[in-house]
Amino acid sequence: MIHMNAKVVGIGTSLLVALIFVLVVVAPTYTNPESHVQSANYRPRTEQEERGREIYITHGCQYCHSQYIRTVDWGLGAERLAEAGDYAGETAPQLGSIRNGPDLSQQGGEHTNDWHAAHFYNPRWTRPESFMPPFPYFTDQERQEITAYVQSLGGKMADFRMARQYKWRDPAIAAYESGVDKNIEWLHRHVPEGWLNVPNPYPITEVSRLRGATVYQRHCLGCHGPVGDGQGPAVAFIYPPPFNFTTLRRHGLEGGATGGMLYYQIMNGITGTAMPYFKRELESEKIWDVSNYVAEQFIGLVDANTEPRGIDAAFEPPVPVKGE
Ligand code: HEC
Ligand code: HEC
Repeated sequence: MIHMNAKVVGIGTSLLVALIFVLVVVAPTYTNPESHVQSANYRPRTEQEERGREIYITHGCQYCHSQYIRTVDWGLGAERLAEAGDYAGETAPQLGSIRNGPDLSQQGGEHTNDWHAAHFYNPRWTRPESFMPPFPYFTDQERQEITAYVQSLGGKMADFRMARQYKWRDPAIAAYESGVDKNIEWLHRHVPEGWLNVPNPYPITEVSRLRGATVYQRHCLGCHGPVGDGQGPAVAFIYPPPFNFTTLRRHGLEGGATGGMLYYQIMNGITGTAMPYFKRELESEKIWDVSNYVAEQFIGLVDANTEPRGIDAAFEPPVPVKGE
């Protein structure tokens, strides 16, 4: 019979700690990553992406960003749940712990490379209220490496999204370089017919104007600029550069509808350019409000109509004017 004296407890505890160390630290380090089970979405990383991953770890990105999506995360806009086999080849998967920033496990191809260049230089240029720290000291090479890494997150699905970004980038650049009117014609040609004929259903009220201005400041200003001429600070990194709304004033819009066209582009973004989609972060009402704001402030063409109206449950009673 073993007596539980100090010596026995001491040796026992040490053995237990040693065993845990072997299982948790030594064994994973020495298992061959090739032997890990791979998910159907997995693909190995290139050398450049591997160097980007080192930057990710040394700069503490994992303190704010997670890289796994669970069933409870559908609300975060996830398209796919994480599988163990997504992390094949990684001895230390960058799962992260807290989510101060968005989950990055399907980040690849969500944005273009030029969006990332501006965002790493100063996150507030692409997202005016971001609290992600700026990394202006990245060399060009480091910025390319970290960008390659985040663009690889999401495995084969990321590659698919990236292929779409590259496919549309060249036509978007060609359209931009062929002059203002041709560019506008090209951009609007890709908005489905039905949307082009939908006027903004919401009249501008004092409150909706404020809401539109706030949305613009929080989401658009860094690129499209305070006066809508596309000269926000991010312009230094972005090509084709952010759209200059005031050119629509000069261009004139046949049929005159601006509401549906703006709504469609803000909701879905423009693939191949840095213009992000906002369908997951802005409610419908805010997209219509910011459309009205852009139309009124920068284009001078608001088609927000009052009649005919549907029977919306969210109908706002007209505010009584003083003395009425
Ligand atoms: C202090 C917390 C914090 C740190 C550290 C941090 N981020 Fe972020 N990150 C955020 C927040 C908050 C956002 C959302 C706002 C924004 O887009 O800037 C974000 C957004 C992002 C996005 C865009 C996600 C999307 O879908 O739009 C990427 C990519 C990203 N971070 C990568 C990185 C990388 C790479 C590093 C390390 C070099 C890093 N972050 C470090 C907080 C952080
Ligand atoms: C990261 C930079 C960036 C941000 C942020 C951004 N945009 Fe854009 N936007 C662009 C770029 C780039 C284009 C495409 C320019 C081109 O191809 O000529 C564009 C195009 C557009 C267009 C198309 C105009 C047309 O007539 O075809 C609209 C509308 C638009 N943006 C509205 C917005 C609104 C509203 C927001 C904020 C909710 C926003 N954008 C945020 C960069 C940005």
